[in-house]
Amino acid sequence: MAGTRYLRFVIIAVIALAVVFFISSSPTSQEQLRGVANTVANKINEQLSFNPKTGDAPTGSKSIAQDITEDPLSDTRVEAPTSSNPKTSHPKPKVKADRVNATFVSLARNGDLWDLVASIQQVEDRFNHAYGYDWVFLNDQPFSDEFKKVTTNLISGTTKYGLIGEEHWSFPEWIDQQKAADVREDMKNREIIYGDSISYRHMCRFESGFFFRQPLMLEYEWYWRVEPSIKLFCDIPYDPFKYMADHGKKYSFVLSLHEYKETIPTLWDSTKTYMKEHPEHIAEDNMMSWLSDDQGDSYNGCHFWSNFEVGSLEWLRSDAYTDYFKRLDEDGGFFYERWGDAPIHSIAAALTLPKEQIHFFNDIAYYHVPFTHCPTEESIRVDRKCSCKPEDNFDWNDYACMSRRAS
Ligand SMILES: *[C@@H]1O[C@H](CO)[C@@H](O)[C@H](O)[C@H]1NC(C)=O
Repeated sequence: MAGTRYLRFVIIAVIALAVVFFISSSPTSQEQLRGVANTVANKINEQLSFNPKTGDAPTGSKSIAQDITEDPLSDTRVEAPTSSNPKTSHPKPKVKADRVNATFVSLARNGDLWDLVASIQQVEDRFNHAYGYDWVFLNDQPFSDEFKKVTTNLISGTTKYGLIGEEHWSFPEWIDQQKAADVREDMKNREIIYGDSISYRHMCRFESGFFFRQPLMLEYEWYWRVEPSIKLFCDIPYDPFKYMADHGKKYSFVLSLHEYKETIPTLWDSTKTYMKEHPEHIAEDNMMSWLSDDQGDSYNGCHFWSNFEVGSLEWLRSDAYTDYFKRLDEDGGFFYERWGDAPIHSIAAALTLPKEQIHFFNDIAYYHVPFTHCPTEESIRVDRKCSCKPEDNFDWNDYACMSRRAS
């Protein structure tokens, strides 16, 4: 009876998947995992091929058996199937020839591993499985073997692990330690988020001035920043790096909001000094009107949320950007206030780039706690298999700076 056969098939498939899942979630070598996956697949094939009438395997068995036996990436890695839907397995990256000189980059600690894995899986499933772009990880401590093993196994491109030099993760010598400590104490009392954190300040300074100058990053022209626990809600069926390169874009964003003014009281003063010192770096068709409501006298706090960025490393390494960072670093606001890399990247982009070189990736649906960007056009959400709720889109919110965006 066909019914019995299918029932048997379903039971065996469920047991097989449970075994593979169990094995894959316990520490084991890839060789062992591959061996067990193949054994399970052979057992399923044996069972499925039994058909007293025709001797044929029942419909549907082929794809499932293939899903388990085929190693879709390369012979250096093996994947345990997480579902019987063949669409969920990674196809082999196929468009390498067409890629641009780009990498993903994540600043992470060993303790961020599992939150970062969640991000990596989304980036791979929604985009990178078809492209195989590299991924650079940066840390002020050496990465653990577990961190390297798990991330390398999930990423379709080459993974690289960099240790940040002490000079990029410490107080510069001109900083008055007592003054910096007093600020942290004061911000703690005023309950400013991360106000008393030293490591948060090193992180903001690193993301503002040094990540693009790490030896591993010098090997690339483009970067895409990925943080732990982000979500990508829609497929990305084209190459955003290539889009940027082909259209002369240098910086991009998906969410924009207002900075917490308490953290940047004198950032605009330092910015004005920079503008006076380096008029040659200020683009003619810039976005000053997005940053300031009074022709540049004061900063309105609008910035692109820099936990998502696809951008040009060449631009960050340019004199225009590094002169800006140098001015800010010398003025000491990373430690005497709590300057974040988001307003810094944003102000630099808005002033030193013509506005047509800044791109809003409306079709990249993104979440970083607590905000979501979800395309409001239904056609995009259908085409790209989006899973976000359009009402969650932050662009609607008054706190966003979207309505002020110049282009
Ligand atoms: C990528 O860009 C970097 C930085 O400009 C350069 O050193 C490197 O040779 C480039 N790699 C390739 C494959 O073109």
